[in-house]
Amino acid sequence: MTKAGERKVMKVLAGETVFPPPVWLMRQAGRYLPEYRATRAKAKGFLDLCYTPELAVEVTMQPIRRFGFDAAILFSDILVIPDALDRNVRFVEGTGPLMDPITPEGIAGLNASGMHAHLAPVYETVRRLRAELPEETTLLGFCGAPWTVATYMIAGHGTPDQAPARLFAMQHPEAFAALLDLLSEISTDYLIAQIDAGADAVQIFDSWAGVLSERDFAKFSIGPVKRMVDRIRKERPGVPVIGFAKGAGALLEDYRSATGVDCVGLDWTVPAKLGRQIQAGGAVQGNLDPLRMVAGGRALDEGVDEVLEVLGDGPLIFNLGHGITPQADPENVTRLMQRVRNATKR
Ligand code: CP3
Repeated sequence: MTKAGERKVMKVLAGETVFPPPVWLMRQAGRYLPEYRATRAKAKGFLDLCYTPELAVEVTMQPIRRFGFDAAILFSDILVIPDALDRNVRFVEGTGPLMDPITPEGIAGLNASGMHAHLAPVYETVRRLRAELPEETTLLGFCGAPWTVATYMIAGHGTPDQAPARLFAMQHPEAFAALLDLLSEISTDYLIAQIDAGADAVQIFDSWAGVLSERDFAKFSIGPVKRMVDRIRKERPGVPVIGFAKGAGALLEDYRSATGVDCVGLDWTVPAKLGRQIQAGGAVQGNLDPLRMVAGGRALDEGVDEVLEVLGDGPLIFNLGHGITPQADPENVTRLMQRVRNATKR
């Protein structure tokens, strides 16, 4: 039987080059899978799916069984944190997430005392997953970065450019800083609870990093993520952290040293030269354009080959540059897995 220390994803996170690289896909459990849609139909709503360990374990395991990924990611959502803060989070079919938009006064009144009780089913899901997963499969916990979670809490819904949160930060800088502080603290508590329940490593999703100026990126994205990583290092030494700051472009160059993350997630727009430069400092994860999972065929093969050619000589966790979309064809995931697993170095 494989020992935990031989988990390929963990080796890469420690800086080792493994070829062919281990693979998992962001949002690997989701609507592109018929078995996910069937389980989803059994839950009352999306949040019920996240808070019912039996169902959350099932949907986490589905892509592992079907494709044999090297990592499983806990099935949950970044918005369970605002839900635990009583922001009336709902997921409306065809509309995406909704919640009550927060005001400066509302920030002062936020109370996280019930958080761990509210999120106990998520920790139970992690415990069951670690027991059920194959030994060689890495279990990833995750949360949203404070900036990204704050954008949804302020707007109350998704927006194309997070203008409401950017404006709020300009007009109410103290309240905004207090919100980021609170989110950093409780998101770290949340990750530590996932680690204690059995997560081998954790990923921090800063999906909206790309709308920030250089100065705001330093203050709103890097600052809070660094504080989170510092606490995890101190309180749970040895547990690797993956940081995914989507769309940050040239600002990613110093992301590893600025935040202390072990692995830098790359989206599909990161140029080869920058990607290799970042990889010179340690592990990277990415970065196939998720639309290649819809296109399939030659577009998929060429995309896979390019990622391997650019990043295959160093520590790489093969992944997409963002989540897989509901339009993706599961057959294309099988094709991707075969192509990566059969890759040879030229
Ligand atoms: O398989 C996995 O990766 C684990 C599960 C996971 C989900 N969301 C499940 C989900 C993870 C890691 C997330 C992260 C997440 N959630 C992010 C960061 C990553 C990213 O994609 O940028 C963000 C911004 C969210 C917030 C969120 N959740 C949105 C905007 C939406 C609606 C858009 C959509 O795709 O419908 C969700 C809902 C959601 N989260 C679904 C899933 C499978 C679909 C909801 C459904 O099944 O009805």
